[in-house]
Amino acid sequence: MNLLEIDNLDVTFSGIHAVRGVSLKVEPGEIVGIIGPNGAGKSSLLGAVGGQLPVTGGRISLDGTDITHAKPDQRARIGLSRSFQTTSEFAWMTVFENLAVSGAGYKGASFLGALIGGKAFKEAEMKNVERVWEVLSEFDMIDMANSFGRELSGGQRRLVELMRCLMQKPKIILLDEPMVGVAPHLVSRIGDECLRIKDSGVALVLIEHALEVVERLCDRVVVMADGAVIAEATYAEVMSSGAVRSAYLG
Ligand SMILES: Nc1ncnc2c1ncn2[C@@H]1O[C@H](COP(=O)(O)OP(=O)(O)O)[C@@H](O)[C@H]1O
Ligand SMILES: [Mg+2]
Repeated sequence: MNLLEIDNLDVTFSGIHAVRGVSLKVEPGEIVGIIGPNGAGKSSLLGAVGGQLPVTGGRISLDGTDITHAKPDQRARIGLSRSFQTTSEFAWMTVFENLAVSGAGYKGASFLGALIGGKAFKEAEMKNVERVWEVLSEFDMIDMANSFGRELSGGQRRLVELMRCLMQKPKIILLDEPMVGVAPHLVSRIGDECLRIKDSGVALVLIEHALEVVERLCDRVVVMADGAVIAEATYAEVMSSGAVRSAYLG
């Protein structure tokens, strides 16, 4: 059984057939790269797997459970995590708070819970706080815990987004262009973290334009064009295919 199985998936928005019959399997501890020209359907595919976009055909299963129509939080509970670019609230919260609100045990938003939640409530919150420190320490970012989002560089934000993904101890993480707006030294740092996550047995599916990043990180590369998968192979094999190069380079 594969960790993630996507079978003949279709995604259609208001007349646009963004994903056409895509099938893909991902195993634990594997990094799969998705490349292809703009508009190829890469983000739509990730959105369908993450549960942000409705699926119009086909099936997705995670660890043997059918999640084709599951809500994003149900998917998160069985081990799927997806990065999002940080929003405006991010700037006004500390790194610690940004991680805490992504945790499974986060109850801070519930005033009633805090008032009457009792022991179970406090335990869940304690566990969540412990998990924040654990993730910060794994990323060697403890000294940034009290920095505000607005003080961070583009690359540091991407690191926080990656740390948020890990809060709920996922089995698979979906990343949509995690290197956008990142200075070169942090590109290699984020790459190091991805490889460390992979070594811990977690799978990553990564949409990435920078081919040197794909080459360094990905065990397997999936090439999409016009909503469909046109090739799936190692980086070297994909790059030596003339058909793929012409589709990718336009
Ligand atoms: N929210 C949306 N509403 C309508 N069409 C969309 C939306 N998002 C993407 N599309 C269309 O779906 C197709 C695939 O886009 P997308 O998945 O963003 O591709 P990629 O990530 O590979 O650049 C494109 O034709 C795009 O214009
Ligand atoms: Mg995209």
